[in-house]
Amino acid sequence: MKFSPAFAAVAAGLFPLALTGPLKSQDNGTMVYDFSKIKPSPELNWTPCYENYTCSLLEVPLDYEDPSVGTTNVAWIKWSSQNASAEDVLVNPGGPGGSGVEFIFRAFANLETKLGSQFNFVGFDPRGVNNSGPSMSCFPGSPVGRKILDAEAFTPVDDSTEYTLRKSYERSGMWGEWCSGVHAVNGTAKYANTVAVANDMRHYIELRAKSIGQPPEEAKLWFYGISYGTVLGATYAALFPDRIARMMLDGVVDTEDYYNTGWKSFLWDTDAAAKTFYANCFEAGAENCKFHGNSTSPKEIEERYLAIYDTLKKSPQAVADPALGIQPVVVTAEDLSSAFFTSAYDAVKNWPVLAEVFTELEKGNYSMLAMATQRASLVVPTAYDLQDTRTLTSCIDANGRFNVSNFDDYKEHIDFMIKQSFYGGPLFGAIVGSPCYALDIYPPESQIFHGVQPGTKTSTPILWIGSTLDAATAIRGARKMSSLFTGSEVLEVNVTRHGTMSITSPCEDEYTRAYFASTSLPPPGTVCEVEDIPFITYTLPEGPARLAKRDAL
Ligand SMILES: *[C@@H]1O[C@H](CO)[C@@H](O)[C@H](O)[C@H]1NC(C)=O
Ligand SMILES: *[C@@H]1O[C@H](CO)[C@@H](O)[C@H](O)[C@H]1NC(C)=O
Ligand SMILES: *[C@@H]1O[C@H](CO)[C@@H](O)[C@H](O)[C@H]1NC(C)=O
Ligand SMILES: *[C@@H]1O[C@H](CO)[C@@H](O)[C@H](O)[C@H]1NC(C)=O
Ligand SMILES: *[C@@H]1O[C@H](CO)[C@@H](O)[C@H](O)[C@H]1NC(C)=O
Ligand SMILES: *[C@@H]1O[C@H](CO)[C@@H](O)[C@H](O)[C@H]1NC(C)=O
Ligand SMILES: *[C@@H]1O[C@H](CO)[C@@H](O)[C@H](O)[C@H]1NC(C)=O
Ligand SMILES: *[C@@H]1O[C@H](CO)[C@@H](O)[C@H](O)[C@H]1NC(C)=O
Ligand SMILES: *[C@@H]1O[C@H](CO)[C@@H](O)[C@H](O)[C@H]1NC(C)=O
Repeated sequence: MKFSPAFAAVAAGLFPLALTGPLKSQDNGTMVYDFSKIKPSPELNWTPCYENYTCSLLEVPLDYEDPSVGTTNVAWIKWSSQNASAEDVLVNPGGPGGSGVEFIFRAFANLETKLGSQFNFVGFDPRGVNNSGPSMSCFPGSPVGRKILDAEAFTPVDDSTEYTLRKSYERSGMWGEWCSGVHAVNGTAKYANTVAVANDMRHYIELRAKSIGQPPEEAKLWFYGISYGTVLGATYAALFPDRIARMMLDGVVDTEDYYNTGWKSFLWDTDAAAKTFYANCFEAGAENCKFHGNSTSPKEIEERYLAIYDTLKKSPQAVADPALGIQPVVVTAEDLSSAFFTSAYDAVKNWPVLAEVFTELEKGNYSMLAMATQRASLVVPTAYDLQDTRTLTSCIDANGRFNVSNFDDYKEHIDFMIKQSFYGGPLFGAIVGSPCYALDIYPPESQIFHGVQPGTKTSTPILWIGSTLDAATAIRGARKMSSLFTGSEVLEVNVTRHGTMSITSPCEDEYTRAYFASTSLPPPGTVCEVEDIPFITYTLPEGPARLAKRDAL
């Protein structure tokens, strides 16, 4: 779901990283660079960390309604404003599984541009993610084993024959079956669900209110969520509608579709988003778009792409050259269209790389596809795995509502996804929803989400933000969610991107800063333009051309 976006790397250079925030004085003078060096506490104790921040490792109950099941620790990091009485704005970058700690390192300067520099920005690793417990690794202590399984289970579907489709079905199933049998996962991973994380945010604001002498029961949340972060925000808003000071949700997931794991509303605009490549490349001209090739129309560029796709569909290609520094892989037509799909998460940054990849493919050189997608990386993953965490959290949230129980159901699901999106269906169909069918882990009763009541009125209206063409969360999701929450408003931003973090749009920044400053909402129907133009305004960084890392939501 990526919902990531959210994970596409933030533009190094769009906003210079000016570091100004002084450290708060509640510290004991020790600087830590590792959450495992921080003593967990049931109160918010802040320790100076990672040079420019303060960190806290908060001990929380696994189940707020049943303290007897024990506790886990949640990692928080704060970028402090100059203003000693500034509000804390909590942020979530997407996933599920995205690290809020890493997001603060990467994005605090963008956050200041977008929301205002008068705030503290607080990132946290949601349960199961990076520095926070409980463990969600299906291969504890064996990253190599996980890499092998991931490479099989999270590979795009090839629906060309029943045989290949059955193989994908079995691959999805083996992931769920394996994880269900892993002790750490079948013990406490069930508490790493979105309702529990929403409760952690409520717990945080109450502890903070207490620490500054305010009544905890009146504490209100300031929140900015992207992609899956919009599920977290909407879940919080449904559970605690009168405990919201600001809530801005960007790259909006249809929360009902997420919990029901229909996954039917995500890819509405995917192909339209992908196809802007052809128009953008054509308009940019041969001097700016490597794949232009003196074509006389966008259609001609599209046909040249489809010819490359057909060649690979007929015959996958091995890429095996030790000099490339990657492991040998076989690249397929599904890899190509999946790279195209995830590139559409951020057209401005990824189109130029894609143009180079296509140009090499047209010459019969498949290496760059393998290298640019980083599928063939030799690096063994670390202890925290985004695939496992993302998939476990979304499957546990689903609580058995994913109604695929045999091969025919699976085929129907995949047919729907691929029919809906030629570019996104094969990958999305494989990695979201499908792996849930054989997973046997469910949240406790107290952490089951029962949906958003239509007409929910929040103490401050929600601001939803939708890109005109979002490959992973179509803007109609934002409009649907807005219709459920009274008084909320959708701001449309005219860009081909999953979420609007790190784009250049003074118009959007003005509205989002005004909302955070005074709760004012843009007039209905507002559309903001952006300054970024694919192939024109963004210069690729030095070094090998890489596509931004993919993330489902
Ligand atoms: C400072 O705080 C950290 C984290 O709470 C703790 O691990 C460390 O022992 C403390 N150091 C001193 C000198 O109190
Ligand atoms: C902290 O700030 C300094 C500049 O003030 C910068 O060089 C350094 O990279 C920052 N450290 C981190 C971990 O962000
Ligand atoms: C500091 O933050 C407080 C609380 O948000 C706010 O009322 C005040 O105006 C801020 N001061 C400045 C100088 O921004
Ligand atoms: C996990 O958190 C650490 C800081 O504690 C950060 O350096 C690292 O990038 C994060 N990992 C990921 C994959 O986000
Ligand atoms: C949980 O994992 C343990 C292995 O540690 C296994 O014995 C048990 O059967 C598993 N439970 C389920 C429901 O799969
Ligand atoms: C495009 O046209 C120019 C000028 O005629 C020529 O120099 C260039 O080689 C052409 N490029 C391609 C890819 O055909
Ligand atoms: C193929 O592409 C790779 C990566 O861009 C490059 O290093 C290599 O030299 C190319 N091979 C040929 C034969 O052009
Ligand atoms: C799953 O449920 C949805 C909605 O209830 C329904 O539209 C869909 O056809 C079902 N799919 C299967 C494979 O049963
Ligand atoms: C978005 O911008 C394009 C031109 O770049 C324009 O054709 C289109 O109408 C705009 N869409 C909206 C919703 O304003």
